[in-house]
Amino acid sequence: MPADSNVLELLARSRDLVEPQLREAVARLDDHTRLVASYHLGWCDEEGRPASGSSGKAIRPGLVLLVAEAVCGSPGPGVPGGVAVELVHNFSLIHDDLMDRDTQRRHRRTVWAIWGDATAVLVGDALACLADEVLAECEAPPARCAGRALAVATRELIRGQVLDVAFERRDDVGLAECLDMAGGKTGALLGASAQLGAILGGADEVISDAFRTYGWELGLAFQLVDDILGVWGAPERTGKPVFSDLRAHKKTLPVVWSLEHGGAVGRELADWFADPTTPTEDSLRQAAVLIERAGGREWALAEADERVRKAGKALDAAGVTPANRDQLDQLAQFVAERQL
Ligand code: IPE
Ligand code: IPE
Ligand code: MG
Ligand code: MG
Repeated sequence: MPADSNVLELLARSRDLVEPQLREAVARLDDHTRLVASYHLGWCDEEGRPASGSSGKAIRPGLVLLVAEAVCGSPGPGVPGGVAVELVHNFSLIHDDLMDRDTQRRHRRTVWAIWGDATAVLVGDALACLADEVLAECEAPPARCAGRALAVATRELIRGQVLDVAFERRDDVGLAECLDMAGGKTGALLGASAQLGAILGGADEVISDAFRTYGWELGLAFQLVDDILGVWGAPERTGKPVFSDLRAHKKTLPVVWSLEHGGAVGRELADWFADPTTPTEDSLRQAAVLIERAGGREWALAEADERVRKAGKALDAAGVTPANRDQLDQLAQFVAERQL
């Protein structure tokens, strides 16, 4: 079986394992918040009628459960962690779409675009609180340590998002600070997902930290690919429109690399970013060509591969069986090669 379909199967299995507890947590919310959260999670339409929309790829719960299995032989102890990271992830997406003013996610209209800003803020907040509740209710002794790791990662995610927004208005963002931003907004939660799997599976701190590094590097690869898909992706596969990062003057990784290392083409790209007028579709396409000519796309793909290599290296210290190692390597490869 090709590695890709193996991973999709693993992710579907993870979704099946966490979904009952995820639904049970969302059911605790007040009527309006529950409707909006359920819509965002693909479980119903805007009116609350049952639907089968996309709930996302479930990469983060997939990571928690795979690592738990690698550590203790069963994904079971990781389930509350999988639920909690997916709640934090969805809180961050609902707020992110509001901040980025994006109107499409998972092939549907975004929460703020339908219900307005206040609802997006409140529903996001509610999901973040549910994540804390789920871990606090978990009676396994390592749950307290898992709760702290998730809180630290959420703080780090927020730091990354603060930088992401601040960079829109800056024209001097360097690659090192852009990598730091991406590590915060995306690396931290993927890192925590792997770490939580290890903690809940009963691993010690050294092993949990090795898994955290694996997840963090995977998160950077994930964001590099996300930035590429935001310019050259197929909306019918990603469920998100292209060019919205460019329109918002986001300093994504391929852009910042091109500005710093792209020579004369990089300077043309800098001129494009300096133009304050709203870009036309044609002008956006030109910017995409400039990034490609400057080498930013090629660099981002190579850097994603390099991060996958580093993720693998971190696993060397985690002492997993060859079969578990193979699954974790396949997940890393899937992240670097994903088209959705
Ligand atoms: C999107 O994450 C946000 C980023 C960190 C780039 P995913 O692409 O994992 O979102 P879903 O859950 O699969 O929709
Ligand atoms: C990713 O944000 C990080 C978080 C959502 C915390 P982006 O803005 O880069 O991701 P997409 O492309 O909207 O999913
Ligand atoms: Mg966004
Ligand atoms: Mg964003």
